[in-house]
Amino acid sequence: MSKVVLITGASSGIGKAIAIYLLSKGFTVYGTSRSEANAAKFPFNLVALDVTKPATITSAVEKVIAKEGRLDVLINNAGKGITGAIEDTPTEEMKTNFDTNFFGPIEVMKAVLPQMRKQKSGLILNVTSIAGYMGLPFRGIYSASKGALELITEATNMEVNQFGINVVNVAPGDFATNIASGRYHTPVFENSAYKEKYAENLALMDSHVSGGMDPIVMAKKVLQIINTKNPKVHYKVGGFMEKFSIVLKRILPDKWYQKLLMNHYKL
Ligand SMILES: NC(=O)c1ccc[n+]([C@@H]2O[C@H](COP(=O)([O-])OP(=O)(O)OC[C@H]3O[C@@H](n4cnc5c(N)ncnc54)[C@H](OP(=O)(O)O)[C@@H]3O)[C@@H](O)[C@H]2O)c1
Repeated sequence: MSKVVLITGASSGIGKAIAIYLLSKGFTVYGTSRSEANAAKFPFNLVALDVTKPATITSAVEKVIAKEGRLDVLINNAGKGITGAIEDTPTEEMKTNFDTNFFGPIEVMKAVLPQMRKQKSGLILNVTSIAGYMGLPFRGIYSASKGALELITEATNMEVNQFGINVVNVAPGDFATNIASGRYHTPVFENSAYKEKYAENLALMDSHVSGGMDPIVMAKKVLQIINTKNPKVHYKVGGFMEKFSIVLKRILPDKWYQKLLMNHYKL
């Protein structure tokens, strides 16, 4: 019997690559998008879901369970970028980002857990970010939303292990997707105290994404995790330096570590 997988944000980038790859490996795949308008162009089942609208989450999960009778894997992938100096970023935009990157995935977990508990099995993969392991300048809100999701994953995993369910994080480094175009960019305000540094960093961030890895690398890692009997809580998928930066944060004094990051971001 093929496993039933639900992937949020499967219309583009990492989610789409995972959906197509798992489909090719014989999984029953349901991907989501906020709009069903282009459903026919995807080779997998596409259902409407907006992680900021709980009614759409319930309806999508109910549809999958009604059709398949089970739900084995949730890939909580939908997410958005946000950039800007903390002082300049509109508070409403910070909250909107947390609604998508933090509260959204939690709502989706809440929607699938009753079925997984009933089945006494299930796997939830929360797509976080290597940026969630450290506060990155001009990406503080993004780092915070992904870091917060990492911690919620740890907590939930311990709560649901008793029901045969695993909750894990998969943290990507830079991948070439549409994330930069879908990001909220705080404008480079003329009178901002951060104007030059922020403008330089915006260009640097975009070049990192466009020069990033192929999302198929994430798809292969996800398959490997699905096939692991006792998965770890944390997975990181990225270049050597991206992953090593997490190790450095653990071992270096804070001041040294921040100096390294500040040199990298020309601060
Ligand atoms: N690319 C990177 O370098 C990178 C690095 C670290 C982490 N990540 C994380 O990886 C995940 C996938 O990002 P990506 O790079 O593949 O970006 P992407 O190409 O922009 O894809 C984002 C996906 O999320 C969906 N989405 C956006 N807002 C949504 C909402 N409110 N409700 C439901 N779906 C929503 C979009 O679908 P619709 O517009 O069709 O609804 C789209 O399918 C995100 O969580 C991102 O933070 C990416």
